[in-house]
Amino acid sequence: MAAQILMTDPAHFAVDYVINPWMRPAAWHADADVNRATASASWAALATALRQAGAELEVLPGVPGLPDMVFPANAAVVLDRRALLSRFACPERRPEEARFRSGFGRLQARGLVTEVATLPEGLFQEGAGDCIWDEARGHFWAGHGQRSRNDAIAEVATFFGLEAVPLELVSPRFYHLDVCFCPLPGGEVLYYPGAFAPASLEAIRERVPAVQRIEATKQEAGLLCLNAVAIGRTVVMARTSARLRAVLDGCGYRTVELDLAPFILAGGAAFCMTLRLDRSSVGASRRLDLATAAE
Ligand code: ARG
Repeated sequence: MAAQILMTDPAHFAVDYVINPWMRPAAWHADADVNRATASASWAALATALRQAGAELEVLPGVPGLPDMVFPANAAVVLDRRALLSRFACPERRPEEARFRSGFGRLQARGLVTEVATLPEGLFQEGAGDCIWDEARGHFWAGHGQRSRNDAIAEVATFFGLEAVPLELVSPRFYHLDVCFCPLPGGEVLYYPGAFAPASLEAIRERVPAVQRIEATKQEAGLLCLNAVAIGRTVVMARTSARLRAVLDGCGYRTVELDLAPFILAGGAAFCMTLRLDRSSVGASRRLDLATAAE
């Protein structure tokens, strides 16, 4: 079955405020018309690359005044056709919650998701941007410490009945897990070690054997190319280094590199401009034993 991916129309994307160290409203507004046009062309190139990699796209409308809605990875965690809507830590993005709720209502009406649930109030969790499904291992990796809260992780694990391995993020520049960590379909994990607390690095190294660990340098992570969408053997990403391209090639992946500069001015790139709707835990090897977890 084809990968199904949600995106948000970029018509209302802009860089209007600063909620992460990448965001540069002055650079955006210095040439807003050109940046808008470039953003719309970059978005279209990403959509084309995803379709060419075999994905089917669902596109939500954007909303004036909510520029970061173009990053639907932060809308929800979706698995087994069940969506757990996020709670945004930053007030600037909180109004997106209601918009994504109605968007998911429409997806539910069309049968693309079967259930739409909400986290308790005050429990910040910013969707798949901070809770990434590892299809090779059958568990989530869950970022916390910058936007999402550690105590939200157990809620997500309980809702889906699956394990979520917490990873503490220690750098404001790597404020979401998806900007510094990317599990690939073959089991390799591309990540930037400098973004993680020592115990979390240990957790990664315990679960991912050395041959499957692809460590990026600070400079490579600074290209936001770890924020990548992997579909089968294709990895769609912002421009990367020759070294990483060769490493991925050596693991049997074909990289499709795009110029996502206007979105990088907001701290986002390929992965966070998408949300997989078709992820399934069937065949997952690490199903949580709910009976044990309840004890
Ligand atoms: N400006 C957005 C924010 O700071 C960018 C979000 C990008 N999303 C992501 N999952 N990395 O929230």
